Amino acid sequence: MSGNAQKPVGSTAPTTGTIDTSNIQGDIISQIPKKAQALFFYQIKDVQGFKQALAKFIPFIATETSVAKGRNDIAQHKNSGASGLLNLKFTTVSFSSKGLVKLGVKDDINDASFTAGQLADAQSLGDKGTTQNNVFEPDWLFPFKHDIHGLFSICGPSVQIVQLELLAVLAHFHCTIREVYKVVGSVRPGAEDGHEHFGFNDGISNPALDGLSVGNPGDDTVDPGVVLLGRPGDNQPGTTTPVQRPSWAKDGTFLAFRLLNQLVPEFNNFLAANALKTSDPSVSGSDLLGARLVGRWKSGAPIMLTPTKDDPALGANTQKRNDFDYDLLSQVKCPFAAHIRKTYPRNDLGDESNDDPHRIIRRGIAFGPEVTPLEKASQKTHFDRGLLFVSLQANLQQGFQFLQKNWANNANFAFGKPQQPGIDAIIGQVVSGNDNVGVRSLSGTNPADATASLSLGTTEWIVPKGGEYFFVPSISALKGTIAA
Ligand code: HEM
Repeated sequence: MSGNAQKPVGSTAPTTGTIDTSNIQGDIISQIPKKAQALFFYQIKDVQGFKQALAKFIPFIATETSVAKGRNDIAQHKNSGASGLLNLKFTTVSFSSKGLVKLGVKDDINDASFTAGQLADAQSLGDKGTTQNNVFEPDWLFPFKHDIHGLFSICGPSVQIVQLELLAVLAHFHCTIREVYKVVGSVRPGAEDGHEHFGFNDGISNPALDGLSVGNPGDDTVDPGVVLLGRPGDNQPGTTTPVQRPSWAKDGTFLAFRLLNQLVPEFNNFLAANALKTSDPSVSGSDLLGARLVGRWKSGAPIMLTPTKDDPALGANTQKRNDFDYDLLSQVKCPFAAHIRKTYPRNDLGDESNDDPHRIIRRGIAFGPEVTPLEKASQKTHFDRGLLFVSLQANLQQGFQFLQKNWANNANFAFGKPQQPGIDAIIGQVVSGNDNVGVRSLSGTNPADATASLSLGTTEWIVPKGGEYFFVPSISALKGTIAA
């Protein structure tokens, strides 16, 4: 099965020893319990004032330890039979490269993409835009085309509570910062809780960190340094040589944020127009196509384990829903370009190794309203909704960027297959200059004819509206370097 082979921790370690989880910000090792999340992007106006405010704020920043305690409190609250949600809030802080420099901290973390910022990457990621005088300008929201220094993330049990908490945080930092952009995400209502806007259960598959978190079967374990800088596994690509990091960056991680709008009526319209023939009359052909584009049914059940119909019990079964491999040369059960196969190819790439630098931790949340009746009827999006995509990794080029550029956007990946896979049906973007130019298509969506290619049309259902790369420092780095 998709390898859980364990390697001794520290075998490639620049540093060894136990990891103090109270020094690591929350949401990295394990997920913060959240029903809503406010993201506040800002510029720093008053450096000294900000540093002073930050120094006083450090005790209120969520750590892995406080998140574990919060999760415990929630479990006790549930077990006691009490109703409602506990009023627990978790705030984390991160900085762009420009933010660190503004604060007088030398950006010597040694990640060129972090230093350059995501705007510089937009074109190569495949984001659409215009080029004038050889300068590419993506079709992003205005604020993301300008300097962003820092990000506050506030998670809590409701939109109202995270908004109130944000006001308290802003009052603390007062006029030392200026707002650049603010967005509040929340889980979708009722049975859609945990499902992204296309309707698919999300946040199911993430790697476990060796020695720090315990995964379910098939989650696969990676060395801590695939996510935490300066730890075993934080290696130069393709080697066991550790990346040179300044000591203050240890136990921090890079956060890739993407504001991704989703065109839900248009996506559903495409599924209906291209519905597959099903062998079971209780299964709709558009649901089958959707499942084959994602690689999972809406419940989260993987199509490798249940190829012809959804199995909600499997989708909810944490012990079984990630425990599968792919058929190397066949797309009868799962297309080579299904979203989860592109972004975590499992055995398609041979034996998974613990220092696989292409694993990321995903912590996104949905934003925007439910589809309105008018949008449904007109099959057209009128209101912004989508995913506040967040991934955490020790190396941006090997993590988020690699998945988007080298795999999702690359029609030839995974290599060596009997049919050309095509681009990732969900997030693949056609990039001019690549060999996938103009080809928004994939093969294998029809289980009866794996060689047939399906054109995805000209409308990309995921529309990037902005993004930035941030560094999430450890608590000791905040105390000793950033707020000092
Ligand atoms: C709005 C955009 C996106 C949507 C709707 C979406 C949807 C999903 C869904 C439904 C799953 C399956 C559930 C799960 O395993 O958690 C998934 C998994 C995944 N997605 Fe996305 N995703 C989006 C963007 C991205 C981006 C930008 C990346 C990275 C470049 C990405 C990487 C992944 C990875 C690594 C997995 C886990 C695959 C596995 O371990 O089997 N996704 N996504």
